Amino acid sequence: MSKNQILKVLHEKKGEYIPLEKLASEAEMSSEQVLDEIEWLRKDDYIIEHSSEHGYRLIKVPNRLLPYEIQRDLQTTYMGKEIHYYKEVDSTNEVAKKLAEEGAPEGTIVIAESQSSGKGRLGKKWISPSGGVWMSIILRPDIPPHEAPRLTLVTGVAVAETLSKECRLDVGIKWPNDILIGNKKVCGILTEAVTDRNLDFVIVGIGIDLNVDLESFPPELREGATSLKRELDRDIPGVKLVQNFLLDFEKLYNEFKAGNFPEILAEWRKLSKTIGRQVEIHKRGRVVIGEAIGINKDGILILEMEDGNLRKIMSGECLHRNQEY
Ligand code: BTN
Repeated sequence: MSKNQILKVLHEKKGEYIPLEKLASEAEMSSEQVLDEIEWLRKDDYIIEHSSEHGYRLIKVPNRLLPYEIQRDLQTTYMGKEIHYYKEVDSTNEVAKKLAEEGAPEGTIVIAESQSSGKGRLGKKWISPSGGVWMSIILRPDIPPHEAPRLTLVTGVAVAETLSKECRLDVGIKWPNDILIGNKKVCGILTEAVTDRNLDFVIVGIGIDLNVDLESFPPELREGATSLKRELDRDIPGVKLVQNFLLDFEKLYNEFKAGNFPEILAEWRKLSKTIGRQVEIHKRGRVVIGEAIGINKDGILILEMEDGNLRKIMSGECLHRNQEY
């Protein structure tokens, strides 16, 4: 909290020197506390210059997902009001689960610069080097457990909308939850519901390859993946993107809680890059091929098989056929 206060003052006068006494009075702290906080901020890679004559001035903010930067100017009501930040963690979903079990409120987020054991769907490992947005959100919706997968679709729509606004590229969704730019994956979503008899809580894990260097991915993943940095040929400020996402997500999640899931589903269908395509669904060593003709209200994919029969696909890995990268 004290970091937030001092940063507020430093940001308001970014580039200008502020005498220590003034910093202390405006941040409502003692001079001693201000000096301690400045030391901590420098450890977090803030560049703060000191002049014995004029005081302190903020020169540069690191392009990192630091909680006090995300919370400054955050326009949400409850998403991201509590942020747990790690430079490195095993998996933000695992940390979020523990926090949720200890009673962390809805909208709490866990965010990390890198993950050592990032989790993907279907038991896969999720490569999470620094430069990405690796984030989990704790949700406590009052819904029956079988409706929890709907939150994956809600999240997919929110991510796709945020990214479209950010980059104005061809952003879309591959069923069930991959966000693509063109034909390449830029974001994955892992929703985990914890239920007793009722739904206790849901963890929505979001992995966005923002400024990730794709060379750090294993060769077999490189071809089908991209990052925003690769697409736009510049570093993207992560804090702004996370703030925008949290706001988009909060709005959509409130709509979901208000019973407007059909409208969100309609949006998902518009963003879908899967519907209307020939797809292969891979599951437990089996492959099903057909044309994706739609998804139902629970997010189940409907395939039309070659013989004209329809088949419901609840889960599995979906590949778009005749895909050129
Ligand atoms: C997928 O397989 O497409 C889902 C990937 C989800 C990755 C994110 S990164 C943040 C959160 N923590 C994890 O361990 N996984 C999710």
